[in-house]
Amino acid sequence: TGQATLAGVSVVISAGPTREPLDPVRFISNRSSGKMGYALAEAALRVGANVTLISGPVNLPPPSGVKLVKVETAQQMYDAVLSQSGQCDIYIGAAAVADYRPSQIEARKIKKQHDHGVITLEKNPDIIAAVADQPNRPFVVGFAAETDDLENYATGKLRSKKLDMIAANWVGQHEGGFDSDNNALQVYWSGGSQHLPMTDKHHLAEQLLTLISEKFHEKNTT
Ligand code: C5P
Repeated sequence: TGQATLAGVSVVISAGPTREPLDPVRFISNRSSGKMGYALAEAALRVGANVTLISGPVNLPPPSGVKLVKVETAQQMYDAVLSQSGQCDIYIGAAAVADYRPSQIEARKIKKQHDHGVITLEKNPDIIAAVADQPNRPFVVGFAAETDDLENYATGKLRSKKLDMIAANWVGQHEGGFDSDNNALQVYWSGGSQHLPMTDKHHLAEQLLTLISEKFHEKNTT
């Protein structure tokens, strides 16, 4: 049985989608609702943590007591997270960061011309990998939403991004996930894993936060 308290512990959580503009009126984004990240922020506040929530555009009220930083693009989220993560104890990357952004943002609305159009994309920085690469890194928790081969992809990301823990969930044909109120998680860390069965995101966030808190205290006392 671990410690559930995070009194005096600084937690930074990223949540929601990012928006990558094409022109003044259009963007590329995804279906992330931000519910999981916001529920984790609430759960962390309840056990006494100082919580900074770095959020993409979502339709959710910020939990009371949270320090909210609003961002739109992955680059803005990167800048906001990296400016906070050096001083925090736990970083939870719950945001659905766009992997790519349009190479060029047109100053004027793009007009329709041909039957086909081409959008050239370039890679966004990997925020969580950058957090984990810092010399004085916090305890780093990532998410992995997968349509197949959940365990292999999740444990691969745990290692390649140097995370302390990864919470993986199915998306696509299964119930729950991205846009939903419910979710189930398979959580991995080096040396163990735990299944958190399908439930509403508030209950799930509470269980995940308890697990994070346990492993965080374990790491800091060994
Ligand atoms: O590689 P993938 O996007 O599946 O990894 C998911 C994890 O990496 C999530 O925790 C997500 O917030 C984080 N991520 C990130 N920066 C990116 C892409 C993903 O922090 N550019």
